[in-house]
Amino acid sequence: MIQQSTATVITHESMGPGYLRMTLVCPADFSTARPGQFVMLGTPGNQLLRRPFSVHRLTVGGNGQTEVAILYKVVGAGTAALARLAVGGQVDILGPLGQGFSIREDYERIFIAAGGIGVAPMLYLLEHLALTRSPDGIELFLGGRSREDLLCLDDFRSLGLRVHRTTDDGSDGAQCFLTHPMEMEAQKRPPDIIYACGPMDMLSCVAGIAARLKIPCQVSIESMMACGVGACLGCAVEGASQDGYLHVCKDGPVFDADRLRW
Ligand SMILES: Cc1cc2nc3c(=O)[nH]c(=O)nc-3n(C[C@H](O)[C@H](O)[C@H](O)COP(=O)(O)OP(=O)(O)OC[C@H]3O[C@@H](n4cnc5c(N)ncnc54)[C@H](O)[C@@H]3O)c2cc1C
Ligand code: FES
Repeated sequence: MIQQSTATVITHESMGPGYLRMTLVCPADFSTARPGQFVMLGTPGNQLLRRPFSVHRLTVGGNGQTEVAILYKVVGAGTAALARLAVGGQVDILGPLGQGFSIREDYERIFIAAGGIGVAPMLYLLEHLALTRSPDGIELFLGGRSREDLLCLDDFRSLGLRVHRTTDDGSDGAQCFLTHPMEMEAQKRPPDIIYACGPMDMLSCVAGIAARLKIPCQVSIESMMACGVGACLGCAVEGASQDGYLHVCKDGPVFDADRLRW
């Protein structure tokens, strides 16, 4: 059930230039959040206009304490205000919201493509997958403009994952888009599913590869959002012909790639 509440900041750390990770203690209802779902956070000084953030990590302690982490990039006034929040500060939170990734038991070989801040929902997805699967069947393709944009590498390594790193400027990993090694690996041995999050151009390329190689693919997309709950219709995106318009906050943010018009 969707909850509106106040959460308390218990950690807030820099993850590199312009990137921060914040952990919030939330009411127990947030423990139902699935990988790919998001929360709307009030921004200090302007609690009415909340901003959407993917659930980056979810921890439920033995005492039932629910901790939700978000990983974010400072891009404007709202995220700059969040960045100023100190440990012990409070923030308005609405969630869990939207449709997450759908995960089938019989998926054995899984590709995850994460570009830039698109890595945010993938740590929770990977930690969730790690509960029931060996890391051997999972390949992570991580791309960024530069080495500072390849986030959470230590978290992924501690899960024992194979990480294919790419950067646009060649400062870490291969100098190419992450779609290049992903396509090569998929041609060698196709995965059962591709999960992707990142800029639209990257997602469009991932969706194209998946369609050509006939691989199921789910993408998490962004749009401007005002309400986050299907009331304002501000987050509409064009679906493939039979679907008309889709609302990212309610129908998504995770979609089967072939439901969207690219
Ligand atoms: C479902 C969902 C999950 C998201 N998860 C994360 C996350 O985990 N980490 C993270 O860093 N960001 C995430 N975002 C994007 C984040 O919500 C925006 O960066 C944030 O709202 C910007 O607020 P601001 O006030 O700082 O910037 P603004 O001043 O509002 O905008 C700054 C710039 O960012 C653009 N922008 C603002 N909001 C969005 C948006 N929703 N989508 C695309 N561009 C936008 C504006 O057009 C402008 O160019 C997510 C967005 C969605 C829809
Ligand atoms: S953000 Fe209001 S309908 Fe989606």
